[in-house]
Amino acid sequence: MAAVVEVVARRRRYRMGLMLVFLGLFMGNALAVDRSNFKTCDESSFCKRQRSLRPGLSPYRALLDSLQLGPDGLTVQLVHEVTKVVLVLELQGLQKNMTRFRLDELQPLHPRYRVSDVLVADPAPARLSVSGRDDNSVELTVAEGPYKIILTAKPFRLDLLEGRSLLLSVNARGLLEFEHQRHRRVPFSDKVSLTLGSMWDKIKNIFSRQGARDPAEVDGAQPEAAAGDGDKPEEPTEREEPGAWEETFKTHSDSKPYGPTSVGLDFSLPGMEHVYGIPEHADSLRLKVTEGGEPYRLYNLDVFQYELDNPMALYGSVPVLLAHSPHRDLGIFWLNAAETWVDISSNTAGKTLFGKMLDYLQGSGETPQTDVRWMSESGIIDVFLLLGPSVFDVFRQYTSLTGTQALPPLFSLGYHQSRWNYRDEADVLQVDQGFDDHNFPCDVIWLDIEHADGKRYFTWDPSRFPQPHSMLQHLASKRRKLVAIVDPHIKVDSGYRVHEELRNQGLYVKTRDGSDYEGWCWPGSAGYPDFINPATRAWWASMFSFDNYEGSAPNLFIWNDMNEPSVFNGPEVTMLKDAQHYGGWEHRDVHNIYGFYVHMATAEGLIQRSGGVERPFVLSRAFFAGSQRFGAVWTGDNTAEWDHLKISIPMCLSMGLVGLSFCGADVGGFFKNPDPELLVRWYQMGAFQPFFRAHAHLDTVRREPWLLPAQHQEVIREALGQRYSLLPYWYTLFYRAHIEGVPVMRPLWVQYPQDVTTFSIDDQFLLGDALLVHPVSDAGAHGVQVYLPGSGEVWYNIQSYQKHHGPQTLYLPVTLSSIPVFQRGGTVVPRWMRVRRSSDCMKDDPITLFVALSPQGMAQGELFLDDGHSFNYQTRQEFLLRRFSFSQNTLVSSSADLRGHFETPVWIERVVIMGAEKPATVVLQVPGSPESHLSFQHNTETSTLVVRKPGVSVASDWSIQLR
Ligand SMILES: *[C@@H]1O[C@H](CO)[C@@H](O)[C@H](O)[C@H]1NC(C)=O
Repeated sequence: MAAVVEVVARRRRYRMGLMLVFLGLFMGNALAVDRSNFKTCDESSFCKRQRSLRPGLSPYRALLDSLQLGPDGLTVQLVHEVTKVVLVLELQGLQKNMTRFRLDELQPLHPRYRVSDVLVADPAPARLSVSGRDDNSVELTVAEGPYKIILTAKPFRLDLLEGRSLLLSVNARGLLEFEHQRHRRVPFSDKVSLTLGSMWDKIKNIFSRQGARDPAEVDGAQPEAAAGDGDKPEEPTEREEPGAWEETFKTHSDSKPYGPTSVGLDFSLPGMEHVYGIPEHADSLRLKVTEGGEPYRLYNLDVFQYELDNPMALYGSVPVLLAHSPHRDLGIFWLNAAETWVDISSNTAGKTLFGKMLDYLQGSGETPQTDVRWMSESGIIDVFLLLGPSVFDVFRQYTSLTGTQALPPLFSLGYHQSRWNYRDEADVLQVDQGFDDHNFPCDVIWLDIEHADGKRYFTWDPSRFPQPHSMLQHLASKRRKLVAIVDPHIKVDSGYRVHEELRNQGLYVKTRDGSDYEGWCWPGSAGYPDFINPATRAWWASMFSFDNYEGSAPNLFIWNDMNEPSVFNGPEVTMLKDAQHYGGWEHRDVHNIYGFYVHMATAEGLIQRSGGVERPFVLSRAFFAGSQRFGAVWTGDNTAEWDHLKISIPMCLSMGLVGLSFCGADVGGFFKNPDPELLVRWYQMGAFQPFFRAHAHLDTVRREPWLLPAQHQEVIREALGQRYSLLPYWYTLFYRAHIEGVPVMRPLWVQYPQDVTTFSIDDQFLLGDALLVHPVSDAGAHGVQVYLPGSGEVWYNIQSYQKHHGPQTLYLPVTLSSIPVFQRGGTVVPRWMRVRRSSDCMKDDPITLFVALSPQGMAQGELFLDDGHSFNYQTRQEFLLRRFSFSQNTLVSSSADLRGHFETPVWIERVVIMGAEKPATVVLQVPGSPESHLSFQHNTETSTLVVRKPGVSVASDWSIQLR
């Protein structure tokens, strides 16, 4: 009843057309998240059940007699000593130092969901062979790797070793818990208390369900005799914990036709004290121990005004955890798309450094160890162990499974101007003109939900955007783009073609009784396309063709918001778990991958509309493992507060660690109004984060850069200038991420794995291996403490060229005008030195190379160039990958990939060498031409040499010698 009242009240508000009132209600009484809208582990019945299991001897035993070894790996049965339920373990050695294992029921009553479309290919197996055996264990050797796996039968566990050192153990704490599917048995006394209504519901349910799964959950139904399972005993005492067969949260009830189906397992990591990953959480980069608190939760949710420094779920989920020690890195990829919780414990947690030292001195300390426990509501256990040994190996291993970051079109690395909402075409054109009038570069203007006709996506509001095509053409003439929002909630309206087609073709998510699921969202009552269905995705992709999406043009790109999916009147603001998807799967099984599929289908649509030629740009709020293949993500609806500015660093770093390099946070903060100082600091931060977009809530004051006081405008102009100037470096970093799977924005520990000081740094980061950024994120800051890592390393301040030695903590005074950024000695960074209206206006500009010499007088760097927008770099090898290396007083330019060729007018305009002595002469050598002398200038105070106009094409081989 309460739910109904709520909906009716909302409907009325909506009818008054006052979305503001609706939002105001939320905003008025909450300055931060209303936690009671979201479950704690105790309120999520499976999490509570899993977590109530304590470490101890595992009741599972491997039946070694059942062990079978084939070319693809090993299978063995595990039996639960009490319930006698049998599981099957499939264990594979994989190439590149990976191992995969899967656990499923031998005879499930219904098939369990296995995630598809996340892996880019079937991973190549490496042969496993038995290298030792006794009564209770089998030792397996993985071909092509230094690893052994020991499978212990009773109690069941797996140990992975390299030589004699133990890397990781599975089920060492006995927390494997696999809730097998069962028939519901209701004790007589409970039966009596079943209401007629709920009985009728169940009966209806049974007769109406279709799909792959059978409706065997009828009360008191006879269990079918499971074939070949003659000795299956009577099921022991039914789990009768509340929530096992149905669950309510607030006013929402979740019928659980398949009963309890959760899975859980523990991993022990000896020698590991630092773990990272499992985004998305608004929390520190280094994961915290969760004992005594809430586990980290992975469940894609639209969390209104999220709170910082806690493990609550947010919009996206990547179930990948990285463990780091000075000697080794490992990854655990838990491939499950259901609601998941992760517990982290450590045997050194809470011990002071002094305590640890005492242990060490007395020889009494245990080896440090971290234990990680994963718990998911349904599906199977499917785990990839990524065995490193270095973190770069882990990056390559993970992205070999799930794909690398899509190579962004160059424009999307520029600056994006968004707000909810630019009112109409005139407003868009004025904002566009504002950038030119005030001399700020900008590549993209964004339109939020108000641009569409009554939130009917793929349409335009006829009075405010009557001529989208000419607006897009105008932007194209300025070499700018437009991004429009297309959300996956579709207004239920028989006059709306998108809705009609989805409904008629049966492509919507269904309720458990088979009718189209409807939820409440921006347009009012809305249907949700079933993106799990390949036919829905194909249909959705076709909607982006220029014919189907009226008013669209090649410079229109797309933003997928609300794709967790957000359902205003649903449990935890999302979809009912018992909603039905294609293939008979419940929403419970696929929740965390829904947004991934929306993103996938949209990116595919943009590729198709150009006949496969143009690279897409799609921003998504929800994500899963593999989403990096489809475009960019951002940290959702943040707030204009200093702490939100700070948290953008660990949030984007965490995403980068698990493949999602194209990450950003709303510059300025989405909710509330930033003061000019905060806004300026945010631009300075955003200019050095991968996805750089200013965005703001409908209720905020306008904040285009030229609306600020003049002195603040100047600082923002400077920050934008730095961004545009470094675009060749950004683009090259993204090419590396795309080719190799290495993150663009990196925590310091990734480059300095043995320097423990770096392991918990949240307030600075690296871009590639060349630039170190320490943003300013405190009001009224007069200085910052910058940690410059690396013994034997030198760092040059990119503005003053002043040189500093690592490792050291440096106090640097700061003014409002800039943030500290350093270039590492030993690197070459390419830049464009003239900032123009947009990246497209700059792409043929000459390059200046910034060479920062190491103490040994060496440096290396590279530059990737192509047309900036098509797949021709891939399909026709139309690209340049140039390597620049400096040693023995000579800078050499050569091709780093001879397959690539690309016609370009880009030439080298200048070379700035930091850390150079003054030469007598500077000579340019180009094969086949006579030597020529170049003019130069040397600054003795900063040891900086500026070599003028080499004038050579970027595509050619040359060298510059300092004599
Ligand atoms: C696999 O591990 C070995 C030893 O730890 C290492 O030398 C090798 O580079 C790794 N290979 C890959 C592909 O990660």
